[in-house]
Amino acid sequence: MSLGKEKAKQYLEANEQAIKNIEKIIQEEQIECEFQKKEAYVFTQKQEEIQKIKKEVEVVKSLGFPAEFVENTELPLKTLGAIKFPNQAQFNPCKYVQGLIEAMPNVEIYENTKVIDVKQSKNQTEYEIITENQNKINAKYVVIATHYPIINIPGYYFLKMYQSLSYVIGAETTKQELNGMYINSEEPTISLRTTSLENGKTLLIIAGMDHKTGEKKDLSQKYEELIKIAKQIDPNCEIKYKWCTEDCISLDKIPYIGEFSNLMPNVYVGTGYKKWGMTSSNVAANIIANKILGKQNEYEEVFTSTRLKPIKNHQEMGNMIKEVVKSLVIEKLKVPQETIENIKTGEAKIIEIDSKKLGVYKDEKGKLYAVKPVCSHLGCELSWNNLEKTWDCPCHGSRFTYEGKSIYDPSIYDLEIIELE
Ligand code: FES
Repeated sequence: MSLGKEKAKQYLEANEQAIKNIEKIIQEEQIECEFQKKEAYVFTQKQEEIQKIKKEVEVVKSLGFPAEFVENTELPLKTLGAIKFPNQAQFNPCKYVQGLIEAMPNVEIYENTKVIDVKQSKNQTEYEIITENQNKINAKYVVIATHYPIINIPGYYFLKMYQSLSYVIGAETTKQELNGMYINSEEPTISLRTTSLENGKTLLIIAGMDHKTGEKKDLSQKYEELIKIAKQIDPNCEIKYKWCTEDCISLDKIPYIGEFSNLMPNVYVGTGYKKWGMTSSNVAANIIANKILGKQNEYEEVFTSTRLKPIKNHQEMGNMIKEVVKSLVIEKLKVPQETIENIKTGEAKIIEIDSKKLGVYKDEKGKLYAVKPVCSHLGCELSWNNLEKTWDCPCHGSRFTYEGKSIYDPSIYDLEIIELE
């Protein structure tokens, strides 16, 4: 609501419409992706949150959407109250995307073809999309859907977006499926949902424990925290899957959808979905398709990607600048106190040898891997993620394996490898 009632309504309507669009596509294309209409709940386990969520119910109702405060839910965890949103949906996004691909037999999709730049062609009527191997693709229209945009200037998304990591587990249980989908209103965030498995059991999916990428923290217990919740629900459940995921967050928490920059006509962007990508991506697809076809989209205004509002959010902007200054200047000036002998197996540290900083990881067999711990995006000093064994960037969330391979944008290049004698 920080943008006013009209924009809040537009945002809500766009997401509600996206659910209908997705349902329609699934029906028309007969995509088997376990689509189910379900209720969604925002619950709390804290007394002090109750007033906040009751207020949210009133706000949602004032925007003309149904919502209800309920004291009890089916969730087998202690809850003090929840907002109930009817008519939401759950589906398997991988199966959905596979279905979309099969529904477009004449469209060619190239995987593992890394784009490193988009430049205006000499005649200025087209763009050259340049791949890692220096191949060029000419296009009149370009949609930058690379998660975090890989082009820094123009666009300047690195000034108005950061990334957040969250963790997910999948636990097999004999308990019944939940009728609803659940997310809590407090920190740390936890969201829960279930789906049925072919073996007749239920998969309980719990996600959350998010934090800004690159935070210098002990992350080793992130999955354990989620497992504790799964065990509260079913002490006999079996943890089958664990993974982490990264999301782009805009400074005003609204996605950037539309023109990439006023200086690059016919180039569009969809990013900053804030962990709400299933509907946001559909909103983006419709807005961008309309723009290319020269049509107005009724929801485009709230998502305008060239808006200045996010950088006027002084608090968030201040936090980002602080982080960049810290990682780009202060951390780089610090002289590491650690030595290579102090690195235990399975650990990494930033050390200094011959006045050069190195990020060194020692694997379980004692083998050392050294990289220059400087992000290949804009040069911030990297932090070690002791859970995923990656070098993560606190500035905009690029991530690299301990061998220096770039695995998450906005970086497109690997880290410099240092040979240890
Ligand atoms: S992600 Fe931008 S400097 Fe690392």
